[in-house]
Amino acid sequence: MSAPAISLPGCVPTACQQAVPIVAHDQLAKGTFRLRLACPEIARQAIPGQFFMIREPNRIDPLLGRPFALYDTYLDAQGQPAGIEVVYLVVGKMTSLMSTWRVGELAEIWGPLGNGFPLPPAGRLLLVAGGIGQTPFLAIAREALGGRQYGQPLRQPAGQPQQVTLCYGVRSQEYLAGLEDFSSVGLDVQIATDNGTRGHHGYVTDLLRAQLDTIVPDTTVYCCGPEPMMHAVAKLCAEREVTCYLSLETPMACGFGACFSCVTKVRQPDETWDYRRVCVEGPIFKATDLYLG
Ligand SMILES: Cc1cc2nc3c(=O)[nH]c(=O)nc-3n(C[C@H](O)[C@H](O)[C@H](O)COP(=O)(O)OP(=O)(O)OC[C@H]3O[C@@H](n4cnc5c(N)ncnc54)[C@H](O)[C@@H]3O)c2cc1C
Ligand code: FES
Repeated sequence: MSAPAISLPGCVPTACQQAVPIVAHDQLAKGTFRLRLACPEIARQAIPGQFFMIREPNRIDPLLGRPFALYDTYLDAQGQPAGIEVVYLVVGKMTSLMSTWRVGELAEIWGPLGNGFPLPPAGRLLLVAGGIGQTPFLAIAREALGGRQYGQPLRQPAGQPQQVTLCYGVRSQEYLAGLEDFSSVGLDVQIATDNGTRGHHGYVTDLLRAQLDTIVPDTTVYCCGPEPMMHAVAKLCAEREVTCYLSLETPMACGFGACFSCVTKVRQPDETWDYRRVCVEGPIFKATDLYLG
């Protein structure tokens, strides 16, 4: 049974902190796992692009939770949100620990946190993912293609994009995670691998460049991945005056605005620069508002 919801302080009045049961845990690709947590209250509120802080209850090492994007919600037999899924790549202490978690055990989750993606625009939506950066795109693709509504109250997309494409780049094909999930929502998936083992032999930015060279009015790009790749995507979009949003994966300590460990430099309306907390004002920012070095 899950612990009662606790409101987090201050800036995230809708977020909950709960110890919730793990109901599924599957390996999707090399070092990559999908974790399903039963948490209806959190699932009802979550929108694509938001994230959760996750940790093991009653454990002091590692003490702090780690941020993971909403991969998707899952529904109960009545079609109501029953919980959330995250997909994670094992890179260090917490993700190694998570990979040992078993179905039936409890995980501690705080969320949903952050701003989430803007509603899917009409026109063409290009989702650009590098490495484990594909995780925020299943839910936004499902929403964009009319497959599910998210949030409380439910978000109402103004219109459906005519085309939604995922350009997904990884080092090597064994890291491709969730391809069946992405195809099942009706998404056009284009793959690039650095070593040519699947799809285009080269960078995901090559796929994006080819897409952008086909001029479609009202194109919007949502991007998530390693920083150098996001910088390259932002540059390609700026050169073509295409609106681009980046989902930042800045390391975080608290996740709810208290510690200022996650700040990023953001352009103000008067063209000066200031710092913003990625966990509260982000993780999604318009690329042209960010200082990209
Ligand atoms: C908003 C947001 C959403 C995220 N969503 C996902 C997701 O859906 N799936 C997923 O696998 N990961 C996601 N991440 C990244 C994830 O939080 C880190 O991989 C995780 O914190 C690593 O924890 P660890 O204890 O295993 O690694 P640690 O032991 O803390 O670190 C291991 C190594 O990785 C480096 N590192 C840790 N975090 C990051 C980071 N964010 N960026 C670059 N290097 C880092 C450390 O410097 C260290 O070298 C997200 C991050 C953010 C901010
Ligand atoms: S992680 Fe603490 S303020 Fe953002």
